[in-house]
Amino acid sequence: MHLFGSLFTSSIGRKFLMALTGLVLVGFVTGHLVGNLQIFGEPDRINGYAHFLQSLGPVLWAVRLFLLACVAIHIWAAVALTLESRAARGPVGYGVDKWVQASVASRYMRLSGLVVLAFLLYHLAHFTVGVAQAESFKGALPKWTMLESAREFGIPLATKGDEVPDVYSMVFLGFSHPVVSLFYIVAVGLLTVHLLHGIDSFFQTTGLRSAMWSGLLRRVAVLYCVIYFLGNLAIPGAILTGLVKPAAGTYAAHQLGAASTASNSARP
Ligand code: HEM
Repeated sequence: MHLFGSLFTSSIGRKFLMALTGLVLVGFVTGHLVGNLQIFGEPDRINGYAHFLQSLGPVLWAVRLFLLACVAIHIWAAVALTLESRAARGPVGYGVDKWVQASVASRYMRLSGLVVLAFLLYHLAHFTVGVAQAESFKGALPKWTMLESAREFGIPLATKGDEVPDVYSMVFLGFSHPVVSLFYIVAVGLLTVHLLHGIDSFFQTTGLRSAMWSGLLRRVAVLYCVIYFLGNLAIPGAILTGLVKPAAGTYAAHQLGAASTASNSARP
């Protein structure tokens, strides 16, 4: 109990909590990206996968609450550590270069963290609750009828003929708006910078960054972040530029096809 309590009350405990919750959140965003990349497959894939997640019911809610608790602890620890370091610094700065660099990095982390938080709220309103761009929210679109049964790692996700929410069309319609897509790209870019510094701090806090390993760990972190950013860029980027078009027969193909026909016929 004493050990658990000191996680919240001591400075090193808070740093550890930040590292641990950060690790969980990196796991989530990585898994989420892998799931989202199914948008480039047949509509059955992402629709079957999203249907499966929704069908988990109480388990899905338990995971959501756990992730929410991680976000809350991560932010709380960041605020507490910032206040603590300000108090320790006192009214006059030391003017030491290293301190200044560290302070710029942590200021940047706070700023990018705030943008990521704002993005997350918008994203939930967009794809989970449907209050932003409500007309293309999955709940407002006709259901998708599964053409084939979908399985992943031997787990049945949906059965042929099931009527499931059309997440595939929702994503295509959502990202066909330039402002929405550009906002996603900027937010994910800032999230990537946040992750890069966060992963560095994780190695520092957990003591993994020894002199021998520091170069290698840095390269692993940079490589992960580049792949993460490109993966996230690919989805709005490919849809917005028309590099990837929605599959024929989907609601999105019908809507976007109709929109481009209308704009072509409006030309003089
Ligand atoms: C191009 C980037 C992204 C795409 C295409 C995307 C797509 C989606 C979609 C389609 C859903 C709703 C799933 C459903 O209806 O079942 C969703 C939910 C969600 N996304 Fe994303 N997402 C992206 C980036 C992110 C990022 C960067 C974060 C975190 C910072 C994030 C966090 C979430 C969360 C927390 C949910 C709610 C999950 C739930 O229902 O419990 N997403 N996303």
